Amino acid sequence: MAGLIERSVQGAMQWVDERAPSLKEGWDKHLAKYYAPKNFNFWYYFGSLAMLVLVNQIVTGIWLTMNYKPSAAEAFASVEYIMRDVQWGWLLRYMHSTGASLFFIVVYLHMFRGLIYGSSKKPRELVWVIGVAIFLALMAEAFMGYVLPWGQMSYHGAQVIINLFGAIPVIGGDLTEWIRGDFLVSDATLNRFFALHVIAMPLVLLLLVVLHLAALHEVGSNNPEGVDIKKKKDENGKPLDGIPFHPYYTVKDIFGVGFFLIIAAFIIFFTPTFGDLFLEYDNFIPADPMVTPDHIKPVWYFTPYYAMLRAVPDKLAGVIVMGGAVMILFLLPWLDRSPVKSIRYRGPLSKLMISLFVVAFVSLAWLGMQSGSDLQKLMAQIFTVYYFAFFLFMPLWTKWDSYKTVPERVSNHD
Ligand code: HEM
Repeated sequence: MAGLIERSVQGAMQWVDERAPSLKEGWDKHLAKYYAPKNFNFWYYFGSLAMLVLVNQIVTGIWLTMNYKPSAAEAFASVEYIMRDVQWGWLLRYMHSTGASLFFIVVYLHMFRGLIYGSSKKPRELVWVIGVAIFLALMAEAFMGYVLPWGQMSYHGAQVIINLFGAIPVIGGDLTEWIRGDFLVSDATLNRFFALHVIAMPLVLLLLVVLHLAALHEVGSNNPEGVDIKKKKDENGKPLDGIPFHPYYTVKDIFGVGFFLIIAAFIIFFTPTFGDLFLEYDNFIPADPMVTPDHIKPVWYFTPYYAMLRAVPDKLAGVIVMGGAVMILFLLPWLDRSPVKSIRYRGPLSKLMISLFVVAFVSLAWLGMQSGSDLQKLMAQIFTVYYFAFFLFMPLWTKWDSYKTVPERVSNHD
């Protein structure tokens, strides 16, 4: 019986291969025979995990859409219906809402890996630039998704963020009206955000991820040592420090997936609101345009940028600072002038600057959740200045820093 199944599968694969040989070529090029450096470590789990979360968001999203009603009159109640009456609806919803936060955790760690191992540097600039475009698309996707349950925070959060466009001179007023489709956040806004959230942005995200991987596989992966493995090849033209992605990294990634799913399951089953961080208490109250919540704040993954916005007294300047904080990421490959890629071969100055950057970013995330006392505002201003100084002076401090010579071959195996 097993033999029969095996023969049938092989026969079917051969049949497809004869008609579309490029499918097998693509499979080999990007998976089975893709040679990756042999020293990938913990930080290299997050690319495959980001793909896993993206699939989770799409699949659970499709099922949520089957019972969700994108209208101001029905949206909130339809989410409650999903939670209480639809079989497994609560699980779908919590998988989706927890997935959103996990997506950002995974993507932030993935970006941080790029920073510490110099993965954005030549020849992977395009991989990085597409990555930042993914990050922007992801932010838009998450923002619009949060509006859909039509709770208090959905409504008033959307109001605050869309109004920011009003700070743009001349066109600001018209622009906000155009985005909302109305004079205030309303049914029309909810409808269009639904369309963008369930179809337009997921398509953009999928396309960008395909381009991201295509760009990466064109040049090959970097690694924790920053050694270019393509320089040393064996007689068959295979990198001496490379191993085929399958089975070695498929197995490694499956281990990461297992570990990640245990954490995800724990959050989904035991603490889906994650103490007001993943789902905010105010969003369990139906949207009421006449009652503004005491403390409007975005979900945690936007709070570093929100803190920067509030740190600047002038509205337009605040919007520019907030937008600039994301846009400046596009320039990273050209700001980093270090002759070496990995932090392992960089000197103390780079290590100090990157450590302080982590402190500044995490502190801004925390400050963005607070009510904003004078002291907190001052702290946010200091950390915002550091955030920009980190990038703007990067050409200087990466040049001034000392560095060690990078070996020709991958030297350690962690
Ligand atoms: C939906 C979001 C994303 C997905 C699914 C994704 C997927 C991946 C995958 C599968 C890899 C190869 C495996 C790995 O190196 O971990 C990778 C590499 C990479 N990604 Fe992403 N990525 C995403 C977002 C981003 C973002 C936001 C950035 C940066 C702003 C980024 C920058 C990079 C870089 C520089 C590499 C090459 C790393 C190296 O070779 O050391 N990615 N990505």
